[in-house]
Amino acid sequence: MTFDAFSAFRMTGHTVIITGGAQNIGAGIARTLSGVGAKVMIADLNGDMAKETAATISKDTGNDCRGIKCDVTSLGDINAVVDATVTAFGGVSTLVNNVGWGGRHDDPAAITEDDFIASYKLNTISAYRMSMACLPHLLKAQNATITNSGSMSSAAPAYDILAYGTAKAALNQMMVSIAHMLAKRVRVNNVLIGTVMTAGYGDAGIDPEMQERLSHPDNLTGRPGKPEDVANAMLWLCSPASGWVSGQTINVHGGGNVVRLFGA
Ligand SMILES: NC(=O)c1ccc[n+]([C@@H]2O[C@H](COP(=O)([O-])OP(=O)(O)OC[C@H]3O[C@@H](n4cnc5c(N)ncnc54)[C@H](O)[C@@H]3O)[C@@H](O)[C@H]2O)c1
Repeated sequence: MTFDAFSAFRMTGHTVIITGGAQNIGAGIARTLSGVGAKVMIADLNGDMAKETAATISKDTGNDCRGIKCDVTSLGDINAVVDATVTAFGGVSTLVNNVGWGGRHDDPAAITEDDFIASYKLNTISAYRMSMACLPHLLKAQNATITNSGSMSSAAPAYDILAYGTAKAALNQMMVSIAHMLAKRVRVNNVLIGTVMTAGYGDAGIDPEMQERLSHPDNLTGRPGKPEDVANAMLWLCSPASGWVSGQTINVHGGGNVVRLFGA
């Protein structure tokens, strides 16, 4: 065999930081990037779970995967994660800003300024700060990328999670601008994620009945997403396979809703 089409997807020699990678979508991304040969640092508020998840991934893939406690809203924690990654792996080539989430607002007409600010800090500003903290190392790396876990709620009306959707929309704009700022040096892309049933839905106050309805979406693929659906898109965007792609926002959401003009 002289041609291996998968070689562009391999990430041996890459060093990854993924935020919020202790569970669910982030853990799926960490596992996939480790599975193609990258060294992965999982930075998560839940440091113990980050370490446990990393140990399991290392065992399964045979590659170095570590966990570290980090609150992405703290600049001190961000700098500590970058320093720890450079010490452990010798650099940072790949940043995945995956942390994000927001609560539901029963009365969208009464969202407080503090709610908006908290949502911006978690979903938007953390990605900016993490990106800038990694930048000196990304600039030295081959195939340097920043890829973000965005949300369909940034692009569609979602008034019951208005502060979250607004912050995610700002993330899209910010990251496309950063892609231009870092042109020819670091590729920057966003994945707009649809419904992936995770613990986050319960934590956000979405009741079991609504969770059940979300589990049977009327989308083009007929099922909710799995963490590995997002992880496979992230793999393309983080690996050399997408070397001609930057400043893009792609939907990974089951293909969108089925539209029928004349009923089912
Ligand atoms: N699940 C979905 O359906 C869905 C849909 C659209 C977008 N997304 C986006 O995908 C990403 C991952 O979603 P998920 O459902 O896997 O989330 P999740 O809530 O299941 O997991 C998020 C992880 O982030 C960690 N975390 C929370 N706050 C943190 C902080 N301040 N600092 C560091 N770590 C922190 C948590 O400990 C957890 O491990 C998020 O950005 C979310 O907005 C998810």
